[in-house]
Amino acid sequence: MTIKKGNLISFSGGNQGQWIVRSMKTLSGNAIEPVSRIEITKESQLPADAKWTFNAFISNLRYTTRKEKTELDQGSKPLGIESNNYAALIPIKKSDEWWKMTQDERRKIFEEDSRHIALSLDYLPFISRQLHHCRDLGEHFDFLTWFEFSSAHEDKFDALVQMLRETKEWDYVIGEIDIRLHRS
Ligand code: HEM
Repeated sequence: MTIKKGNLISFSGGNQGQWIVRSMKTLSGNAIEPVSRIEITKESQLPADAKWTFNAFISNLRYTTRKEKTELDQGSKPLGIESNNYAALIPIKKSDEWWKMTQDERRKIFEEDSRHIALSLDYLPFISRQLHHCRDLGEHFDFLTWFEFSSAHEDKFDALVQMLRETKEWDYVIGEIDIRLHRS
């Protein structure tokens, strides 16, 4: 697979950027250096002071069926809505055991067992999201998940992540950092 350099999205932690860090919680795996802000850029414009940078790209769907995609598309709201003043960046790494499975075995755990999509659909009115892939770049994390929501709905976001973390899918998560932000 070739990933064009211009398609890379970088999340840099440091003391500059449009997102102010409210909290950083390591749920599994190694912690990362605490930072006060996160800047999201194209790789070519990295801020000079970054303490860490994670690179990723937007990829095709792996597990979503046509019926699920139609439902997701109907309910999804774009990123960048002004009233969505809060965000969460949650980098995630899954185990070798996960990656050794076949696509159908992973889909079964992801949806038939864990109901990742079915559980999440109810939250689409409150949460805008973008999944970024980075495993194929040889990065430490496999995914950089990004969510935007209003501060008035953070309890809903908390309820969703709590539910997902109790599913079978999360038995395969070996690295997870929950970074909460607000717009500067
Ligand atoms: C409104 C909320 C959410 C919706 C609608 C949603 C939906 C989805 C969908 C459709 C996929 C599958 C993409 C594909 O077919 O390849 C996916 C993947 C994923 N989601 Fe969510 N999700 C939500 C919330 C979350 C949250 C809160 C987390 C993390 C705490 C999360 C973590 C992930 C990860 C890591 C993947 C990649 C799984 C893999 O490929 O192994 N999602 N999500």
